[in-house]
Amino acid sequence: MQSSTQTSTVRFSEKLHHSGIPYSETRLHIEDLLTADADAVTELDSGADIKSGLQQVPKSIPPRYFYDDRGSELFEQICQLPEYYPTRTEASILQHCAIEIARQTGSCELVELGSGSSTKTRFLLDAYTHLGYSLCYVPIDVSGSILTSTARELLTEYPLLHVRGVIATYEQALSQLSPTEFPARAICFLGSTLGNLNPDECDRFFSYITGTLQSEEYFLLGVDLQKPTPILEAAYNDREGVTAEFNLNMLRHLNHRFGGHFNLTQFEHFAIYNEQLCQIEMYLRSLRSQSVVLEKLNLTVEFAEGETILTEISRKFDLTQIQEYLQVRGLKCLDVWTDPDRWFGVLLCQKL
Ligand code: AVI
Repeated sequence: MQSSTQTSTVRFSEKLHHSGIPYSETRLHIEDLLTADADAVTELDSGADIKSGLQQVPKSIPPRYFYDDRGSELFEQICQLPEYYPTRTEASILQHCAIEIARQTGSCELVELGSGSSTKTRFLLDAYTHLGYSLCYVPIDVSGSILTSTARELLTEYPLLHVRGVIATYEQALSQLSPTEFPARAICFLGSTLGNLNPDECDRFFSYITGTLQSEEYFLLGVDLQKPTPILEAAYNDREGVTAEFNLNMLRHLNHRFGGHFNLTQFEHFAIYNEQLCQIEMYLRSLRSQSVVLEKLNLTVEFAEGETILTEISRKFDLTQIQEYLQVRGLKCLDVWTDPDRWFGVLLCQKL
């Protein structure tokens, strides 16, 4: 691995060995846009969003603060919980429709936003491999360590695959994607992460997507669908308390990062389904009246007993409405797949 501190852009390429056969071609390239963009780093690290979120009424903290190392680990555990159906349901759909997706897009550059451990993506990689289509996989994630270790695993598992990872926010990566040499590009946004964006953020997200895709290129979206409240609330209030730990860990993260003095035993997790807005709302509730100092932000936050902090929304979609929403934004749905219970949807769209 080589890293250039002068440009603060990390690029590395490797000669890989698979099954004892040395590869002379370069199949791995990782670019770090996050640390290369000093303004973005300053903006992301400044805590300005924490300050404004904790000073407004009602209080909120952006969900991106869930994902420190412990938070990412806890999220992986959530995905395995019996109550948390989205991951396994989406995986079962992808397992069935991956071949059809690969057939429709043909050989392409597959860009995945928020790729993480790329677990479900492997169904797609298997399908392209099975059909003999050449493929370049472009995982995009803010976590360089997960992205790098996953990329290495994939190169070993898929001997013909090329990986061009980008450590970046979605906006950074999408605005800087270079023209693809492949006949097409497909951008995937799986796991219903779309649901964690509010309507304005969603509109902004799609303006980036449609600004990046050329006409006739593809967008693959996984969305969690509306369903009875008890099923939804159980998924975000699991019996083992992993989601509670995930939520509370956000305070630990703020303590570590911003010199905070949150006492985790003085807050509790709860999640409810807001049936009007069709969204799960996840909160931390203060168990008593208390002041909390965040030294690095020069901030003292007052909490009344029972006062809440909104830490996440997770919107649940209607398949017809989401297709109309996409169509208005210039993304025509070519195919929609769902599970027998219609709990989750996978949509393959094409830019008009
Ligand atoms: C990442 N995102 C799609 C998850 C969700 O279901 O909204 C985050 C999550 N929060 C609690 N459990 C899972």
